[in-house]
Amino acid sequence: MTLTYYGQAGFGIEMNGKQLLFDPFISPNPLAKHINIEEVAADYILLTHGHQDHVVDAEGIAKRTGAKIISNYEIVSWYGGKEISGHPLNHGGKWNFDFGTVKYVNAVHSSILPDGTYGGNPGGFVLWNEEVCFYHAGDTALTMDMKLIPMTCPKLNFAILPLGDNFTMGYEDALIAADFIECDTIVGCHFDTFGYIEIDHDAAQKAFEAKGKKLILPSVGETIQL
Ligand code: NI
Ligand code: MN
Repeated sequence: MTLTYYGQAGFGIEMNGKQLLFDPFISPNPLAKHINIEEVAADYILLTHGHQDHVVDAEGIAKRTGAKIISNYEIVSWYGGKEISGHPLNHGGKWNFDFGTVKYVNAVHSSILPDGTYGGNPGGFVLWNEEVCFYHAGDTALTMDMKLIPMTCPKLNFAILPLGDNFTMGYEDALIAADFIECDTIVGCHFDTFGYIEIDHDAAQKAFEAKGKKLILPSVGETIQL
């Protein structure tokens, strides 16, 4: 499967012929200047939580493409007020879409929408169909709840974890998270976008290698095969 990294926590992934776009933060990101937002495809836009650095381009892309929002109830309702339709979930719940199953899982973080509206509790997503299963953790600390994922979902093929530290877990905790979720292939996100979350790529890669795990730190705009 192919993943395109759009910066911060933003990814484009095709699943069963449908384009899934996660947490689009492209237009204000200097690292994503070379991305033409008009060409970003989406049938569904999955939003982990309401923070600006995860939702800023969702409205524009949804209006251009007609994509549906998948998020928690509060965020989907807020987009409903802008005449953008969606599917609401809440923690621990899953739904079968035309591309596969999506389960909304816990994250330890905060969530408020750009205009100050309450954004519900933040989450992550586990997605699966007959071919693949993966986890996008959103913004989160390391949490014991991650141990529930292998108990309640199919075996993960890969996981997208934040590791820029300061606002989320850093790479040391992300390495423990990889054990909790029983996954050896990790795609890092939420790093280098701002000064607070710049990371030492070499140190992060070496820490994962030492534990026999693979860490991919994609460049913005890069498409990777998994
Ligand atoms: Ni956040
Ligand atoms: Mn964030």
